[in-house]
Amino acid sequence: MLPLLSLAAERASRYVESLGERPVAPNGRAVTELTRFDIPLQDQPIDPRDVIAELDAGITPATMAMPGPRFFGFVIGGSLPAGLAADWLVSAWDQNTGLYNSTPGTSHIEQVALRWLLDVLGLPADCAGAFVTGTTVAHITALAAARHAVLQRVGWNVEADGLFGAPPITVVVGEEAHPTLLKALGVVGLGRKRIVRVPTDRQGRMRADALPRLSGPAIVCVQVGNVNTGASDPVRHICDDAHAQGAWVHVDGAFGLWARVAPSRAHLVDGVERADSWATDGHKWLNVPYDNGIAFVRDGDALRASMAITAEYLPTTTPQRNPSDYTPELSRRARGVTVWAAMRSLGRSGLAELVERNCRQARRFAEALTDAGFEVLNDVVLNQVLVAFGDADRTRKVIAAIQQDGTMWAGETVWQGHTAMRISVCSWMTTDEDVERSIEAIYRLTGARDHAAQSPVSSSA
Ligand SMILES: Cc1ncc(COP(=O)(O)O)c(C=O)c1O
Repeated sequence: MLPLLSLAAERASRYVESLGERPVAPNGRAVTELTRFDIPLQDQPIDPRDVIAELDAGITPATMAMPGPRFFGFVIGGSLPAGLAADWLVSAWDQNTGLYNSTPGTSHIEQVALRWLLDVLGLPADCAGAFVTGTTVAHITALAAARHAVLQRVGWNVEADGLFGAPPITVVVGEEAHPTLLKALGVVGLGRKRIVRVPTDRQGRMRADALPRLSGPAIVCVQVGNVNTGASDPVRHICDDAHAQGAWVHVDGAFGLWARVAPSRAHLVDGVERADSWATDGHKWLNVPYDNGIAFVRDGDALRASMAITAEYLPTTTPQRNPSDYTPELSRRARGVTVWAAMRSLGRSGLAELVERNCRQARRFAEALTDAGFEVLNDVVLNQVLVAFGDADRTRKVIAAIQQDGTMWAGETVWQGHTAMRISVCSWMTTDEDVERSIEAIYRLTGARDHAAQSPVSSSA
């Protein structure tokens, strides 16, 4: 194995080391040449080293430098070195981490990772947790527990009897809820449309004064970290109000929950520990490799009731925690290992520094873009910046020019009717110099300030 794994390690580290300098977007030719893979499967085996070489030669040039320091699209973290290397070990161990008895090592370390997460995120220490693929599945997991609990209170066993004929559940979401939350609601049978939508303010925060009166089974879904603005719902107020009315509160904290670890940002999510369940990502701000999400549920019995199974052939009996008692999957990769490794390597101070730094860098972007006369559309409180370069047409042209230039990458959005570029700063790799280099590229491409003469995207274009 050593020559093969060394070959993979060599090629992978060459890739990681190229991230700082390679154009962020893949070039068109590399993408066109992907068709070389469109061949029928051959009859005979091929040497694994040739397989790896073929992959590297054809796919590496067609990758987006997502884990690199100047990728600011969507909300995407990089891969911390310890997390990336731990991920390789996880693959080598190949532990189906569903049951403690058969995979004690990885099951155990996942428990530790969960404890550490609850600690740094300031959530109740006795919460149950589940490592899943991302926030979407963390929503599904937590909402299944919520559905169980609110129906159990009115004497309905949803796992046994399903939702046919069940007492209706009122589901409340903000106007700005992330579409994956709506998808999760659909998957757990609560419906994407039969929800009560609460109006939001100019930053996308749910208006606490507009929360409807609730009675009977109810789930209120709040958001910390709007995907466009980074703003958080007034979660303390909503939790208190919803709990007084007997509702379950679920939090979409895909990236915003990590504000908790940064002393200067923690106030943005004040009171979030009062909720009943939380969904977040490891692959965003914790910078572990894809894919990695986490669900936390205060009422562990509700989560186990919705997820646990037994079977004669499965060694489920153990005083320890069986990971699959908490997850939609029985067979599963030990995703908590990379979380453990990332946290172990960063420590509390490293984690706080990462989030603080990215937030400071987002503010630097906002300041430079405002100075250049562009309109920053959001209050830059966290790591998200929305900037318009003029009308929609001009903004789209600038975004296309930025993406093509390759110094950095950011995507497009429409925020409250305005087309904008979204800059999301979320990577451990991003240095202040990367931010300055990106600002310089934006100035150059827009002709801002003293770069006007060089502008390939003129205002009249
Ligand atoms: C607020 C919010 N919720 C949910 C998600 C979905 O997360 P994932 O893609 O990890 O499922 C995102 C992704 O950006 C997000 O920003």
